[in-house]
Amino acid sequence: MGCRTSQAGLVASLGSPSLVDLGPECGLSVQRDQRANWSTSALRAVAPRRPAARSTVWVHPRLCSVTARGVTLTVTVRARTGQTVDDLENAAPALAAAASARSFRCRALSPSTVEYVLVMADRLGPVRAASAPADVLVDAVPVGRRQDGTRWLLPLTGRHTLVVGCSGSGKGSIFWGVCGGLAPAVRAGLVRLWGVDLKRGVEVGMGRHLFTDVATTPAQALEVLRRLLQVVDERGHRMAGDTRLHKPTSADPLHVLAIDELAVLTAYADPEIRKEASRLLAEVLTQGRALGVIVLACVQDPRKEVIGLRGLFTQTIALRLRSADETRMVLGDGAAALAPAHRISPSTPGTAWVIEEDGSADRVRADFWPDDLVRNVATTHPAPYVSDPVEAVQLVDDLGSEAQAAAADDFEPASDASVRARRPRTPRQSRTPRRSAASAPSSASHAGSDVGPEAA
Ligand SMILES: Nc1ncnc2c1ncn2[C@@H]1O[C@H](COP(=O)(O)OP(=O)(O)OP(=O)(O)O)[C@@H](O)[C@H]1O
Ligand SMILES: [Mg+2]
Repeated sequence: MGCRTSQAGLVASLGSPSLVDLGPECGLSVQRDQRANWSTSALRAVAPRRPAARSTVWVHPRLCSVTARGVTLTVTVRARTGQTVDDLENAAPALAAAASARSFRCRALSPSTVEYVLVMADRLGPVRAASAPADVLVDAVPVGRRQDGTRWLLPLTGRHTLVVGCSGSGKGSIFWGVCGGLAPAVRAGLVRLWGVDLKRGVEVGMGRHLFTDVATTPAQALEVLRRLLQVVDERGHRMAGDTRLHKPTSADPLHVLAIDELAVLTAYADPEIRKEASRLLAEVLTQGRALGVIVLACVQDPRKEVIGLRGLFTQTIALRLRSADETRMVLGDGAAALAPAHRISPSTPGTAWVIEEDGSADRVRADFWPDDLVRNVATTHPAPYVSDPVEAVQLVDDLGSEAQAAAADDFEPASDASVRARRPRTPRQSRTPRRSAASAPSSASHAGSDVGPEAA
């Protein structure tokens, strides 16, 4: 590559071969014939009959900059003539492997320039436990860390989130990362959580106090969906021509429908329930986003026949998947190389790939939520008691905006006694975080196997 580096010393520190030599090796450079310059009249006069001499030269893309920050090395490369950003992106796995990176990100900055972020050390190895949330957050909640060690903040407002991962991949961590992260906002009345847990309520039951209502049977799930559609209808009428994005207030909260194992409702239930649930959920997904009714759904199996509604979710988190085909299904064509969720090691549950708004992929790991933390957070931040949450919204709407604020202040956080009677739940085994590859010698063979360039 033609070299103009901002930190040339770092190139050498990448080891052998240095990044400068990688263009030809990684398929980024081409060899071209070059005629020697015999065409001037002076030369023609000296050697009129001599055939044009040929030599071969390498043509490289241009290495624009190399910047080191923490454990990452950011390399910006401009395409050579005849090359596209797709060609540059396709070379990312080879480039990262040659540089001995633990993993990488790649994103197009322009139609001719690509940025490679090479992650030189694994920051996601050790298990990290979540901590009790302190701040009232609604727009986005911190659920873990990114592969460069920075905070992974999951945006929520205006998004429907689908979490896909095989059994034991750590969907619970993301489920509680969102619901637990919203807990202070639940207590403040800014967010109302609705749970659907058709696996006998085992998961949601642990943090039951956080939820306005929890469905544990298909019939109850349909009821919850209908109630949320009432909110969608009512808000749609109220907001028409006024505003296009609902702003949560304590009088008019964000409704979050959190579903653990969506397929039990949309694929494995009785045909009639399945059909009705898919219809209602499709309505919530297509109309609720801007009206402050959003969905977080977890599912093990990403096949189309299991989730016909996959395309209606606006952000997807891919935990460990079973094949490159599943990765393509969940994250889109081309994702298998750049976001290989099927290569995440079973020894690192909670690890996932996400596609950012700019199209780049990033590896993340959710913080672990032990059962005790879920229970504590739920009892500390119980959902305010309202006799009918949907009716309450309509009543509040009839009041003026000042009265709305006053009504909001009247919402008292529920005491234990005022939280509606809980259904008995099936006892479950207490969860302990699985030891990571880094900390578990017995699973050392998995170390690094969930990173892009190193995975088999
Ligand atoms: N973020 C995490 N960090 C470390 N360990 C985790 C993490 N999340 C989950 N685990 C471990 O993995 C186990 C399985 O996680 P979890 O129950 O969340 O999986 P799941 O994807 O919900 O599986 P299923 O589909 O069977 O319900 C947990 O009991 C825990 O030991
Ligand atoms: Mg689960």
